[in-house]
Amino acid sequence: MSLHGHALIDLSPDLADLRDTVLAGLRRRPRRLPPWLFYDAAGSALFERICQQPEYYPTRTELRILHDHGAEIADTLGAGLILVELGSGAHHKAERLLAALRDPDGYIAIDISRAALRDALKSLRQRFPELPVTGIVSDYGARAELPLREAAGNGPLVGFFPGSTIGNMEPEAAERFLAGWAPRLAGGGMLIGVDLVKDPAILDAAYNDGAGMTAAFNRNMLVRIARELDTDLDPDAFVHRAFYNAEASRVEMHLVARTGHRFTLEGEAFAFAAGDGLCSEYSYKYSIEGFVALAERAGFRSARVWTDPKQWFSVHYLTAPAVLEP
Ligand SMILES: C[S@@+](CC[C@H](N)C(=O)[O-])C[C@H]1O[C@@H](n2cnc3c(N)ncnc32)[C@H](O)[C@@H]1O
Repeated sequence: MSLHGHALIDLSPDLADLRDTVLAGLRRRPRRLPPWLFYDAAGSALFERICQQPEYYPTRTELRILHDHGAEIADTLGAGLILVELGSGAHHKAERLLAALRDPDGYIAIDISRAALRDALKSLRQRFPELPVTGIVSDYGARAELPLREAAGNGPLVGFFPGSTIGNMEPEAAERFLAGWAPRLAGGGMLIGVDLVKDPAILDAAYNDGAGMTAAFNRNMLVRIARELDTDLDPDAFVHRAFYNAEASRVEMHLVARTGHRFTLEGEAFAFAAGDGLCSEYSYKYSIEGFVALAERAGFRSARVWTDPKQWFSVHYLTAPAVLEP
């Protein structure tokens, strides 16, 4: 099967996956739902609005690193590679990177949000008409093999995982996730954006922007659940709360009940007392050394790290050995 270029392959989770994920998250203690549930069409659009907020430094800082070090990054990654972006969103960073790279041989974008992927690929194809471009609507953490080789040529595969999305996973899960990707990228590598530990006041402001975009993004998870599943859950009964947990080195986002709220979901009853919360996202912050150690435990080798002048954000190039050591 050759899908080389200009295809959209749909392996997205179905409604049963959504239902099972939500029920499992509400039954566990503490209650916790995975961040992929944020990303329906409205959630993807809200994330783009967050990226434009003055308090939300990660996007513009990472874009600046890609801009300021573009030539060096291109030299380090080499010519003729196939870029595989994990969680491509609106693809602004890929666009910047592809413009800097030397003769890339293809671009494969993987995202769970079909709407975001479809729109992004359309504009990317206009910008790079000669480049084979393929979209895969899927969970990038799915254990099933993704059709990467079918979608691309024979050049080295280089993963691109910006936005510090790796920080949404707990460190052990991030290590397992990278260990799962190292063999897929063997002979190539991964360029990955990782947010750094910094003054808690900057972190608290970034996840509590004055325009309320992060609050709307967080609550959209419940809006989406209420719309797509059989439930009387009232999203307005919950408020956004985000704070930096210094001990765990992570920002936590929660949805907290304003008053007592009972609802049924697919026939099962759930009760929240006033002040009860559910966790919707962790965003771990790393030191450069701490992240390098994690990536090397996962089977990658640290080749280069770029940062901004304030050392708020880092972009790592990790190589994936062609033959993994036992
Ligand atoms: C934090 S945003 C980053 C977007 C963009 N890469 C950036 O750096 O601005 C995360 C992106 O990953 C996607 N995403 C989140 N969880 C995912 C999953 N499990 N599998 C595939 N895509 C996922 C979302 O739809 C969203 O586009």
